[in-house]
Amino acid sequence: MGAMAMQGKTVLITGANSGIGKVAASTLAGMGATVILACRRPDAAEAAMAEIRQQHPEASLAFVQIDLASLASVRRAAAEVMAKHPSIDVLINNAGLANMKRELSADGFEMTFAVNHLGPFLLTNLLLPALRAAKGRVITVASGAHVAGKMHWDNLQLERGYFVLRSYAQSKLANILFTKALAARVAADGIHANCLHPGAVSTNIWPERNWLEKTFSKVLRWFLISPKQGARTSIWLASGDVGGKANGSYFENCREKTPSRAARNHDAAERLWDISAKLTGLK
Ligand SMILES: NC(=O)c1ccc[n+]([C@@H]2O[C@H](COP(=O)([O-])OP(=O)(O)OC[C@H]3O[C@@H](n4cnc5c(N)ncnc54)[C@H](OP(=O)(O)O)[C@@H]3O)[C@@H](O)[C@H]2O)c1
Repeated sequence: MGAMAMQGKTVLITGANSGIGKVAASTLAGMGATVILACRRPDAAEAAMAEIRQQHPEASLAFVQIDLASLASVRRAAAEVMAKHPSIDVLINNAGLANMKRELSADGFEMTFAVNHLGPFLLTNLLLPALRAAKGRVITVASGAHVAGKMHWDNLQLERGYFVLRSYAQSKLANILFTKALAARVAADGIHANCLHPGAVSTNIWPERNWLEKTFSKVLRWFLISPKQGARTSIWLASGDVGGKANGSYFENCREKTPSRAARNHDAAERLWDISAKLTGLK
């Protein structure tokens, strides 16, 4: 990919202040794209932008504040983006978390489901006019952890039996089902929606709040790949030919991969879409 391959393109990345998202933001800005960093903490976004400008002094960067755990914040951020950037070439739904304890979002949804699925669901839908204008790409950072997941249809908010892998795996399965349902809806508009597993990456997603987590994380980090390696497939889908051809697919290591059987279930994808539209108040 040439150095200025993304010249004239507008890319919005959620969670662009850290980990995989920050590398993707920097690399795509270095390729000439205007990159909108959509982050919840302005100071963290500022720091990331300063870092990116050191790497790429010519970088064209913008910031929008968004808390994916609040539907009102998502709506406000989407309106701000649409007003300033009526055409978006690439949306990377990258932000995510794995909550150790069951917490609730501003709207009363289980936090991991809210941030990893409902927020991106609403954001993507609200940005569709700008994505249509560019015949853009929607790239959602899912995870190989989806294979451990199932949709708990009668307990989606995991009120019963919460544990971190159960909620995280369900939310990442939801990312793939969302991608499939979205692709079917936007293909006729020339929009391409795909998702990916970045690998097991050394980022802040692995918590280190107590000695047990710190020890676990230290051991784990020997086996993890760098954020630079972890961002490869996101960048490749954003800038390469395949991201503008494939639709509804799941990728790993810049290669298409077949996700779990649960992730290929058409009825589940449609059911999740309907539920998500209701929960987010999407009309
Ligand atoms: N690391 C891995 O091994 C791995 C494996 C598979 C998939 N993934 C996926 O990769 C994506 C990127 O994660 P990462 O590994 O780069 O982790 P990270 O370094 O922790 O970055 C996560 C980003 O998400 C943001 N975020 C969290 N909650 C948010 C909210 N309520 N509103 C807006 N932004 C929020 C974080 O913001 P703050 O800095 O403000 O917290 C941060 O910018 C995630 O979707 C994750 O599930 C990661």
